[in-house]
Amino acid sequence: MVNITFLSNGGKVVTAPENSNLLRVSLKERGGIPFKCGGGLCGTCKCRIEQGLENTDAIKPKERKHLRPEDFEAGYRMACQTFVLGDVAVSWVVQNGKGVVQAVASAPAAAEPAAQADS
Ligand code: FES
Repeated sequence: MVNITFLSNGGKVVTAPENSNLLRVSLKERGGIPFKCGGGLCGTCKCRIEQGLENTDAIKPKERKHLRPEDFEAGYRMACQTFVLGDVAVSWVVQNGKGVVQAVASAPAAAEPAAQADS
């Protein structure tokens, strides 16, 4: 069995058989990784393997349509195409209900001031 930590879901940890599909485990255990097609087409399930990248299987051709080489280097994978061979910790970004790969280069420089409610 392997441990999978869903970092973007409060650090929830679940166990799964070795060589499990990451998205399937997420669905079964309510891990929370976003998805739509489950078949490598939509790209919604983009996520980042923060720990244990060496415990994931080979990158699939479908993933190369959605992720750049530098994304893979940074640990990004598509959960529906990824099988886990050992312990991993995975994060993702949720925006408008969709998983989004954060831009590697830039991030917002400063937080916006809190909006004032109209009286
Ligand atoms: S869920 Fe659509 S590509 Fe993974």
